[in-house]
Amino acid sequence: MNRKYRKTVIAGNWKMNKTPSETKAFMTEFKAIMPKGRWCDVALCVPAVCIPAAVKAMRETRIGIGAQNCNANAAGAYTGEIAANMLVDAGCKYVIIGHSERRAAGETDADVNAKVHAALENGLIPIVCVGESLAQRETGITTEWVTLQIKSALDGIGEDQIRRIIIAYEPIWAIGTGKTATPEQAEEVCENIRTVVRKLFGAKIARAISVLYGGSMNEKNAYDLLAQPDIDGGLIGGASLVPEKFVKIIEAANQPTI
Ligand code: PGA
Repeated sequence: MNRKYRKTVIAGNWKMNKTPSETKAFMTEFKAIMPKGRWCDVALCVPAVCIPAAVKAMRETRIGIGAQNCNANAAGAYTGEIAANMLVDAGCKYVIIGHSERRAAGETDADVNAKVHAALENGLIPIVCVGESLAQRETGITTEWVTLQIKSALDGIGEDQIRRIIIAYEPIWAIGTGKTATPEQAEEVCENIRTVVRKLFGAKIARAISVLYGGSMNEKNAYDLLAQPDIDGGLIGGASLVPEKFVKIIEAANQPTI
């Protein structure tokens, strides 16, 4: 990370876990042990039905609540979908876009781009996910693949908007597998992501954009990952479901030695 130029962000992705009642219980426990350090931004992206409970519980704190998806359209006949302005009205600050689990269910690069636009137009901070499969890594096309995903996701985004975007590098082979990328592997791709942003938007913006790592990040490996120069935080699945573990990751991000 580089606190001088960009924000450190620790974001939880609960995926399809916890009910509204369990959300309330988590927040009570979490608030009681939340670190005091103010160096990093903290987000919790919860299931849609848990958003009201999470927002209510975190109202007086600096924790931002987020969703895990949004629809690219403003309104209309999209049964089961949720528009970006609905998330804003419900109190969300963030939205995860293009998570590999959604891409696996059919979300395309064009869908991701449209959702990024919708999120930004409505004032949400998109956490845009990119990452390669194991087969792609083994074939040696990680850089090309991730570059393409970034270019597609950021297509047509204005210079005034790009500053609000957070990018998360999540190698698919590391998600939920317990197989974390080494700090060097993660740094290599995150550095390349910054290079792509530099080519698209210039050095100043590339230096200011936060690039997170995600994929089995936990309380044990967080410090070494966050100590890398181009890793500005984490998108955390499993370990964000347990208050003590999530707090330890926030504490790692707050270490003055990084
Ligand atoms: P994980 O999930 O931390 O459980 O690997 C990360 C993610 O998918 O965002």
